Amino acid sequence: MRTKKQSKLRLVAYFIKGSFYLFALSVFFNLILVFTTVLIPRIIGFTVDCVLQNDPLMGENVLIASLLGGVEFVKSHYYIVLIALLALALTAGISKFFNLYVNSKADEKLMQRMRNKLFCHLLVLPMSWHYKHMTGDILQRCTSDMQTILNFISAQMMSLIRILVLVSISLVFMFMMDVTLALIAATTIPAMFVYSLIFQLKAKKHFRKCDEEEGVLSARAQENLSAARVVRAFGRESYERDRFNAQNEYYTGLWVNLLRRLAVYWSSSDLLASLQLLLIIAFGTVFALRGSVTEGELIVFISYNAMLIGPVRELGRIVSNMSKAGVSLERIGEIINAEPEDYGRLNRPLKGDIVFDDVSFSYDKPTLSHLSFTVKEGSTLGIIGATGSGKSTIAHLLAGLIRPSGGSISIGGVDITSATLRDLRRSVGLVLQNGYVYSGTIGDNLAAVGGSDAQIRRCAEIACFDDVIRGFSAGYDTVIGEKGVTLSGGQRQRLCIARTLMKNAPILIFDDSFSALDSETDLKLRTNLSEAYKNTTVIIISHRIATVMNADNIIVLDDGKIIEEGSSAELLNKGGVYKKIYDRQTGGGAK
Ligand SMILES: Nc1ncnc2c1ncn2[C@@H]1O[C@H](COP(=O)(O)OP(=O)(O)OP(=O)(O)O)[C@@H](O)[C@H]1O
Ligand SMILES: [Mg+2]
Repeated sequence: MRTKKQSKLRLVAYFIKGSFYLFALSVFFNLILVFTTVLIPRIIGFTVDCVLQNDPLMGENVLIASLLGGVEFVKSHYYIVLIALLALALTAGISKFFNLYVNSKADEKLMQRMRNKLFCHLLVLPMSWHYKHMTGDILQRCTSDMQTILNFISAQMMSLIRILVLVSISLVFMFMMDVTLALIAATTIPAMFVYSLIFQLKAKKHFRKCDEEEGVLSARAQENLSAARVVRAFGRESYERDRFNAQNEYYTGLWVNLLRRLAVYWSSSDLLASLQLLLIIAFGTVFALRGSVTEGELIVFISYNAMLIGPVRELGRIVSNMSKAGVSLERIGEIINAEPEDYGRLNRPLKGDIVFDDVSFSYDKPTLSHLSFTVKEGSTLGIIGATGSGKSTIAHLLAGLIRPSGGSISIGGVDITSATLRDLRRSVGLVLQNGYVYSGTIGDNLAAVGGSDAQIRRCAEIACFDDVIRGFSAGYDTVIGEKGVTLSGGQRQRLCIARTLMKNAPILIFDDSFSALDSETDLKLRTNLSEAYKNTTVIIISHRIATVMNADNIIVLDDGKIIEEGSSAELLNKGGVYKKIYDRQTGGGAK
């Protein structure tokens, strides 16, 4: 199943689907806001010129006068102007409210869609993809990169439309009133935009540096929190404190430096804006004295000019930040365009003999080489071998977490790559070597794959976990903390075993799952398993000879190759590696 690659534009279109009408509404309210904002100075101008000073009605003032009921009517009813201004201010306020409301709703919908798409896609990406990507980096993409895209679509695009409309309408009105004054504004306003753009582009690298260093700081804090036990066990508190303080100081210094630059920018930009306004006022006054502009027009002019300064500076920030959104879209696109796990369509339960036929697998270097073995249905296979010899890799291959790079694996004659992932995962119950325990209660963990209370109790009993539960006053409702920190290693292992048993799978794999158990519990658990799961195919991976020696067949793995295979008795007779391990672990000789 290949996914269609999404370009940045397609991605934006995909994310915006579902909230597009809300953004369109937001643009609509934005435009009403702009129109009302632009109209207010015009009404004031009309009042000054035509109502207070009896100037002749000309240009747009004719329209304004007729909208207000005629000049004579306004002259005898001054309050009409007040009502008109109030109505416009009210319309502006209401439009702003609806704009904010609709925009926030659109934001949330957009964010929800992005989160869902990303999370669902992460769930179907193969383990090989996850091995190559750091969790912190994925989280960063799912949080701050998504926020950047949201800002771009929701805040920046909306502001861009609003500012462009505002600037265009204001400039058209300004040119209609006086070309020379309008030209002064039209040349100084772009200069302010360019100044703002240059500053923002320069500031961007400082902002990025601050972001990166904040990432380092939080990663350091996170690492310390996760490794709280290690830090204390190694007495590294003062080392970690100094390391954190140094980073904290560096980070604070960066911000102080950035804030100094921002202070210089804002004050110089304000100065520039004041000078520009001064220029307009100076020329405007001269023109008004000469009679080429009216007092009302001068007021309108100054109002428009002041109204444009803020948005024009904002425009610089928006344009400079657009590339940031591009980078974030690229980073999110890398996840969305990654190929999901590719498995077959054959829809039938997998049951029967497991056959590894000339299976090879490589991570960065060859890990398993030309492995061939069969596990008869209902039998038990023991796997033993040095650390790093590839035992877990075999388990992961069989559970479909990774795919062989050569050869084939079949269950009941069906190549596992042609089965659906659902069928494969249903058929194989894997207890991982470092099993993950969800935060929450013991009951929540056991019920993670569904099942009745009776089933939960039975699986807990088989896994010798019932004693542990009885030891807790809250029983199944005992909260076990993040990653099960409140459980001992052996308790956690038994919880993971019980949870896998809940799957009722025809194939069970225990990847070093008894390592933290004392030998008595280990034996009891294995006895329970063999009694309860007579027809189940079991694969037991262990470093402990006692754990695997009762298996029907045992393979000894070394550096990704099978070096010995047979029953315990056969391997002991052979006198090879298995015998050596046996002797070492049993204290010599005894069979
Ligand atoms: N995600 C991974 N990325 C790269 N290499 C890996 C990865 N997982 C395992 N390896 C490498 O593959 C080899 C086999 O690892 P595997 O986990 O199968 O060993 P193992 O026999 O289960 O060891 P142990 O007894 O310590 O559990 C090792 O050299 C290991 O470094
Ligand atoms: Mg392992």
